[in-house]
Amino acid sequence: MTDHPYQLVAVEFTAADQARLAGFSCGNEAWSRHVAEWIRGSDVLDSMKRGTRVWLFENTGGEIVGFGSVGRTRWRWPLPDGSYTSILLVPMLGLDARFRGQPPDAEWRFARQIMSHLMSAAREMSRDAATQSGKAIDWLVLMVHRENHRAIRFYEKCGFELVTGVMRHGDHLVMKLWIGEPRD
Ligand SMILES: CC(C)(COP(=O)(O)OP(=O)(O)OC[C@H]1O[C@@H](n2cnc3c(N)ncnc32)[C@H](O)[C@@H]1OP(=O)(O)O)[C@@H](O)C(=O)NCCC(=O)NCCS
Repeated sequence: MTDHPYQLVAVEFTAADQARLAGFSCGNEAWSRHVAEWIRGSDVLDSMKRGTRVWLFENTGGEIVGFGSVGRTRWRWPLPDGSYTSILLVPMLGLDARFRGQPPDAEWRFARQIMSHLMSAAREMSRDAATQSGKAIDWLVLMVHRENHRAIRFYEKCGFELVTGVMRHGDHLVMKLWIGEPRD
């Protein structure tokens, strides 16, 4: 592992870590408050009971910069009315608001480091699925509030594309990333 000053370390999240999250805030927008409430409350624990993996990401000073999660679920795919198919889902991801857009060097951007970790974990879970059931999982999916333009732009930079014509929970767009074998 590199010891670059901006390198984040992923720590598998447990319920005991919630004691460290008292001051954790992703910002004041309604969706940002929801993200912080998710990791600080019971939703994250319920999600982990369903198999979701969750990590905190710490900087070299031991501060919690953000968190991310990946879980497996079944959705109709392709949306909205395909047959039920296993997909990998990012249930929640957030940065402490102090670290948005940081560091300025895009190569070390914290949010990008978190997403890279989630993508690697998703690919590993896809390979595990292939070993267990003979079928890899091809899509990594997430939902984002339609007015959360900053997050939408961030996900686009990470390679996610919008699923057009589909809305979940009334006001959330769906974005997808291919994680299966390379396609022609
Ligand atoms: C979403 C999040 C993880 C992204 O991390 P980040 O450090 O802010 O992301 P970046 O700065 O690397 O990228 C954001 C991009 O959006 C752009 N942006 C900022 N405000 C914007 C706006 N109002 N409209 C469009 N783009 C916007 C930025 O300029 C940047 O693009 P650029 O690199 O091309 O300039 C972080 O902002 C966050 O945790 N937000 C609160 C919680 C949240 O929304 N979580 C996601 C729930 S689905």
